[in-house]
Amino acid sequence: MPKEAVQRPDLGGPFPDHIAIIMDGNGRWAQERNMRRVFGHREGIASVREITTECARMGVKSLTLYAFSVENWKRPSVEVRYLMRLLRRYLIDERDTLMDNDVRLLGIGRLDDLPEGALRELRRTEAITAGNRGMLLRLALSYGSRTELADGLRALVRDAKAGLVDPGDVNEETLRRYLYDPETPDPDLMIRTAGEMRLSNFLLWQASYSELFVANVCWPEFRKPQLMEALEAYAHRERKYGGLIQDHANEQTA
Ligand code: IPE
Ligand code: IPE
Ligand code: MG
Repeated sequence: MPKEAVQRPDLGGPFPDHIAIIMDGNGRWAQERNMRRVFGHREGIASVREITTECARMGVKSLTLYAFSVENWKRPSVEVRYLMRLLRRYLIDERDTLMDNDVRLLGIGRLDDLPEGALRELRRTEAITAGNRGMLLRLALSYGSRTELADGLRALVRDAKAGLVDPGDVNEETLRRYLYDPETPDPDLMIRTAGEMRLSNFLLWQASYSELFVANVCWPEFRKPQLMEALEAYAHRERKYGGLIQDHANEQTA
């Protein structure tokens, strides 16, 4: 448990167990202030800390943050190098905050693509926080949903060829088991900042029925009030999963 007791806000409706966030707009935030893009990334760390801590305190079970995509390797090498140094520092500096809030950290993505120093600190932080039983914080690093599905499918086909899986039995659950972290339930709420209306290759399988919320502010400005706005919106959504809400269903058949 976090040092402060978990306090779930009453927003008059359901509360998400799993929140996924596409943290976008760091570069724009900096450029709007006549600063270089990398300052936006640095400022974004403060939002990561605040949102992680607030989610843990409110009893969110899992938070998945899109920190670096497989496509982001295409960016200029100075920016990529800066982001990787920032990641390494974050993984060292945040350990106390993660421990104080009982947060367990897990990296998902093609983690072997990361520079050695960043990967080492990721593994250390995962090991240090492994016993925490509060919120799970998943950092998506060198993550791409299509890569995840392709890698998973390759492993599945290999197992089928080895006789470990019967191709006739393959269903959605089988495929799910070959994704990065199959035990964590799908996100209930998917947030994107900086006003962009796309998923950018993030959790395409897992977000099939996630509720979407787009915030107009850039990530460095996404703090507790903006998080509360997203939670408030979620509390008033009707999740139907292709079916009908029970009351409406009764009306229809009456
Ligand atoms: C998100 O901010 C951080 C990463 C993708 C690593 P951006 O760097 O994409 O910022 P914008 O979208 O260019 O403003
Ligand atoms: C998505 O943001 C990736 C992360 C937030 C890590 P991008 O800025 O890379 O996405 P696009 O290029 O606008 O689709
Ligand atoms: Mg962007």
